[in-house]
Amino acid sequence: MAVIPVDIAGRPYEVRVGTGLLDQLVPLAKGKLRKRAVPIVTDSNVHRIWGERVEAALRDNGHEPQWRILPPGESTKSWQELAATIDWLLALEVERGDHIIALGGGVIGDLTGFAASILKRGCHFIQVPTTLLAQVDSSVGGKTAINTPAGKNLVGAFHQPALVIADLAVLKTLPERELQAGYAEVVKYGLIDDADFFDWCTRNGAAMLSGDAALREYAVAHSVAAKARIVAEDERETTGRRALLNLGHTFGHALEAETGFSSELLHGEAVAIGMVLAARYSARRGQMDQASADRVADHFAQVGMRARLAHLKLSCSGGDLVTHMLHDKKMDAGTLPFLLLKGIGHTYLDRDVPLDDLANFLDGEL
Ligand code: NAD
Ligand code: GLY
Repeated sequence: MAVIPVDIAGRPYEVRVGTGLLDQLVPLAKGKLRKRAVPIVTDSNVHRIWGERVEAALRDNGHEPQWRILPPGESTKSWQELAATIDWLLALEVERGDHIIALGGGVIGDLTGFAASILKRGCHFIQVPTTLLAQVDSSVGGKTAINTPAGKNLVGAFHQPALVIADLAVLKTLPERELQAGYAEVVKYGLIDDADFFDWCTRNGAAMLSGDAALREYAVAHSVAAKARIVAEDERETTGRRALLNLGHTFGHALEAETGFSSELLHGEAVAIGMVLAARYSARRGQMDQASADRVADHFAQVGMRARLAHLKLSCSGGDLVTHMLHDKKMDAGTLPFLLLKGIGHTYLDRDVPLDDLANFLDGEL
């Protein structure tokens, strides 16, 4: 088992990564589960496949799980499900010193984390991420949110978990498409500031996705360590360091908006296309050499991902995508800071991207 510390000032915690950790939930939580009753929020897919295992892990150690089983999918990150979950936690008389367990992907982690952040002005929660995306990204770093009709993740809070337990065994039941979507966030850490890790991905990514346990542990632990390092430096995204984690996201959000935030395009898939676009646009602007930009697209193709914008067969224009970008929550005093690349492993924030040039570029990619 790998143990990765997240050194947030005043609220440090650990991420534990290994195989079979669900069975060890109670000993790993080391006294955090103070009462017999343990509130667990999950979705119906995860509950169907892994619920019994978690139930046994808790009951065998003298606990009684209290389940809240939500519908799977992005629409669960809503005011309605948040309010209902808060009412459920209040009815259970959860106290500020108690820990709520979030068992699921990014949807469950984001909703449960946000509920924990506002319940009684803030109580604890433990992330037990069950998708690759949640294990390498969303369960670590304390961003929590719900969606509103005005957009995705517009209402939320920074609220760090007390512990993250990432069991690699649960990835065995994750659909291949979800696994690949999560892999985009793994590759992201290489592109941000770790060219060696990008090289590692080109050598091992395909075997890791096919199920090699040792490679999976390395990929998840290395990704978590990268995220922990960045979050510890800039927890609230104020210095620009944490913003690097949004590589590919401005393009990606525009694509998600254009496809109606639907299952037509998963978040990780949008991020993969967004990172390819960021690399190709960086090459067009002369910031990155074309061969390196091509390596990014080639790698996603190598692992079977369709990460070129043309693959989406959208009927919109580049200008329409730029219009979506202007509603991005990263807009800052009328300008949109863009994450571009000076090379693999060298992402930077560019505040001078001419939007008409960007629209022309996108027209050529569509
Ligand atoms: P998800 O939570 O919707 O899970 C994807 C699907 O996989 C769901 O249908 C779920 O039921 C199913 N599933 C989960 N675990 C499974 C398993 N082990 N076996 C079989 N099926 C399983 O999606 P996601 O990709 O994990 O998360 C996406 C969400 O994460 C988005 O809402 C995004 O905004 C958010 N996010 C948050 C952060 C953050 O820092 N907080 C970062 C990235 C993404
Ligand atoms: N996923 C981006 C962040 O956590 O900052």
